[in-house]
Order: sequence, then structure tokens, then C-alpha cells
Amino acid sequence: MRHMKSPALIAAGLAAVLFASPAAAATGSPGAPGVGDSYYPLDGNGGYDATHYDIRLNYDPATDHLSGTTTILARTTQDLSEFNLDFLLKVSSVRVDNVAADFHTAGGELTVTPKAVLPKDRDLTIVVRYDDTPEPYRLYGYAGWQKTPTGALGVNEPQIAPWWYPSNDHPRDKATFDVSIAVPPGVEALSNGVLVNKQQTSPRWVRWNWRSTRPQAPYLTFLAIGQYDVRQGTAPDGQTLITAYGDDLGDNGPAARASVERTPEVLDVLSRYFGPYPFEAQGGVVDSSLGFALENQTRPVYDGAFFRAGTNTSVVAHENAHQWFGDSVSVDDWKEIWLNEGFATYAEYLWSDYQGEGTPAEVAQFTYDNIPADDPFWQVLPGDPGEQNQFADAVYDRGGMTLQALRTAVGDDAFFRIVKQWPQDKQYGTGTTTEFVALAEKVSGKQLDDLFTTWLYTPGKPAVGPNGQSAAAAAATAKPGSYDQIQQNHQLLAAGRK
Ligand code: TRP
Ligand code: ZN
Repeated sequence: MRHMKSPALIAAGLAAVLFASPAAAATGSPGAPGVGDSYYPLDGNGGYDATHYDIRLNYDPATDHLSGTTTILARTTQDLSEFNLDFLLKVSSVRVDNVAADFHTAGGELTVTPKAVLPKDRDLTIVVRYDDTPEPYRLYGYAGWQKTPTGALGVNEPQIAPWWYPSNDHPRDKATFDVSIAVPPGVEALSNGVLVNKQQTSPRWVRWNWRSTRPQAPYLTFLAIGQYDVRQGTAPDGQTLITAYGDDLGDNGPAARASVERTPEVLDVLSRYFGPYPFEAQGGVVDSSLGFALENQTRPVYDGAFFRAGTNTSVVAHENAHQWFGDSVSVDDWKEIWLNEGFATYAEYLWSDYQGEGTPAEVAQFTYDNIPADDPFWQVLPGDPGEQNQFADAVYDRGGMTLQALRTAVGDDAFFRIVKQWPQDKQYGTGTTTEFVALAEKVSGKQLDDLFTTWLYTPGKPAVGPNGQSAAAAAATAKPGSYDQIQQNHQLLAAGRK
């Protein structure tokens, strides 16, 4: 499902329909190998939109052996002679509309050449069979799939799909998902959405069937396989609530439960600010091997280390805020990652306020005061941090301060209308910084270019802090705070990618 936005594109499409000759339809052309992301040129593909993925796999933790079939429902957006899927594993067959197709894989691209040209606006059924061990693969130099002592984690950002299923891997192309995964008896297999069935299918296999019915970006679709204590329940709003705790969390186990079990309360508090929770299920998974946390749609995953000093509901607020900012409204280009991390950080400020541990003004000011002007932190531009700095602290903390600066400039009433309107306008789609600034200007009636240029795109510590005070005035009145948990969260989160 792709959201067409440009009238020029629509006009071009219309022209193609009106003027395409039958000869052109017979020829077609290859779909682009990427959607044109600034940081990840091969992410996503051109020529089609995916609408649904049905992933049906077997996984054996003893050998890291993954095998099965992914069926993709898609629709062509051009006359297509050839198209790509983003995928790393060894493929044994590809069928397009029941006809065997030629294919080859190289560098994370599975290129499929159907027997005949596929005309524009046609519904496709693409069936890919495969069989491999995912762990050794790398993409853009990064690892993705993590083997763990008792299973595996298919959890990563900005890419994880190519390690376990073929996809059009960019947030611009969301789809619904059925994920069915068979594991040996006694092993748990977790994914997004609702657990629609779990059944022993043979002496060797138990199959877990998960379903996500709201548009979901491929990287937010996850697998967590291993030894977990799984709790299945119902949230007060009636939604499926599934939480799972690794059986090796040790002394962090109770604090992990005391934090993640409060997910429905966190979602309730956040929905007062951001509008109704956009999905159909909720929960969380805590694992001691992960090394970070990630906002998988409907069910974030957390490393046990977040809970080493006791409860950490701040990280629960962060990951669940991403359900609005990141998952429902996704980035249109990975360079605009601050639209995810800055908002999730601001949600930590709001949650801090709810807990009585400091207002957003206090937390933002504390962050501003504690980072000296000569710290390299201020050289990273949250509005376009560079691929190497995509998850740098500045994306989180300067992103959060940017929103506090916006609140100071437009006042509480306009600010809270803006942060509720944005996820409503862009629900299940993508957004850009330009569009966000335009919304903020429309709602507030203020000219805000200078503010966003200073906070997102200008190197150096802004002379005026997030509450409108000069750095010198702030230094004179600075109060020691106790908001370190938020900065510590971001350091752990940013250390994620290997
Ligand atoms: N988006 C995650 C968060 O802020 C951070 C994260 C998770 C991450 N996994 C990662 C960053 C892998 C880099 C690499 O909650
Ligand atoms: Zn985040």
C-alpha cells in the first residue's frame, strides 16, 4: 500500500494510461532496485506495491536453519519486465501468478524475471521458497539476524526483513501481515499483532500463527524465538495484550515485568496527547540478548539491561510513543529519523511529568544545560544526521529539545493540537519534516522556519535554549535534576546497530 502524494506523479500516471501504446505494454521495463532513499539506495523497489505478506516458516534453533515460503500480494505500478525484492537468503523457487519465474540474488536484491511482461495495475501473487541460515549475512556492512543461546531475534532497524523474508523493504510501502512460524516443542515464537492459532503439527513442530491487520512497515515485523514466559491477556480497552520475558533475565526479571506490564497504562496516557492508539494489539518482549530496544508494531522488544536499576517505564513510554511516531506515521526517507526519535523522546518528557519526576520544560532544560557547547553532540544535525549518525544521541535529545522549543514558540494549546493532528493526518502512511513544519505553521499561525533551521539544521548549540532562555541565563539558574534515565536510555538505544 503506497500513499500517492504528488499531483505530478498522478498526472504522469494518467498520461501513461491515456497514451501508452499496446507495443509499450508488451515490452515493459525493469522496476527500480530502490525507492530512492537518501541513506539506503537499495531499500525498497520500484514497479509494484505490496499489499499483504503471508510468511510461513520453520525454524530450528539448534542449527539456525530457516526454511519456508513467503507469499506476497502486490499490484504493478508500471508495465513490468522484471522486478526486485529485498532479500539475502538462498532462494529455491519463485512463482508469479502460478508460473515459475527466473530469479537471481546478489547484494540483498532478489531479481525476478517473469515469463511474460506484467501489465500496469495488475494484481500479482508472488511465491518465494527458500532455505538458509540467516546469521552470517550482512547488509550495508551491518548484521541483522541475531542467533541467541536458545533461539534467534529477527529485530533490527532500519532493515531486518532481508534476513528472513523477501519484501519491498521501505516504510513507504506498508502492508498487512500473517506470520506463521513453526519451532520445536518447548520453544516460543513471538511476532506482531494477535496470536490467532498455536498448534502442534507433528512430533517435531509447533506452529505459531500471528496476524497484523493494520498497515505495517517491513522492518517493524519481527520474530523473537527462544525460551520465554509468555503472558496472554486482555488490556482494559479489550485489546489482546501479550507480554513475554526471557527465562534468563535473572535479577532484572521483576523490574522488567514491573515496567512492561504497565504498557496499557502507558498507551492510555499517551493517547490523551496523541489521539487513539492506532493498532489492534499491544504488549512487549524482554530479552537479555538484544542489546537495544525497538518499537516493533504492536509489540516493542526490550533488552533486559534497561531494567538493571529497577523499573524503567521511560523506555516503555519511548517505544510505545513510536507506535504513533515511527510505526503509524513513518519516515518517508531515513534521513528524517528525528520525526521518530525526537517525538519518542518528547513522550519520555510527558511520561516523566505524569510520574511527577519533572516537567518537559525541566527535562529539556536539564539536557540543554548538561551538554557543553564544545561537545561533539551539537555538531550532529537531527534533521539530516548522516547514515553513520542516524541513531546518534542528538537525533533523540536535540530532537526532543526541538519539540520543547516549538512548544515555547507556539504555546501549549497550539502545540498539543499539532502533536495530535500529525498522527491523524498521516495515519498508516509517511511524513516529511517539510510537511510537519507546514502543519505547525498552519495550526499556530506563526512563521517557524527559523526555529526549525536552528534546531534541526544548524551545527552548534542554539544560543537560546528550549524554554526561550539564553545559555548564560540558564546556567545562572540551572538546578541539578534527576532525569538521567532518559539520556541513559538513549545511549543504550543508540548502541544498537552492529
Ligand atoms: N529505534 C530504536 C529506539 O529508539 C533504536 C534502535 C533499535 C536501533 N534497534 C536499533 C538503532 C538498531 C540502531 C540499530 O527505540
Ligand atoms: Zn526510539
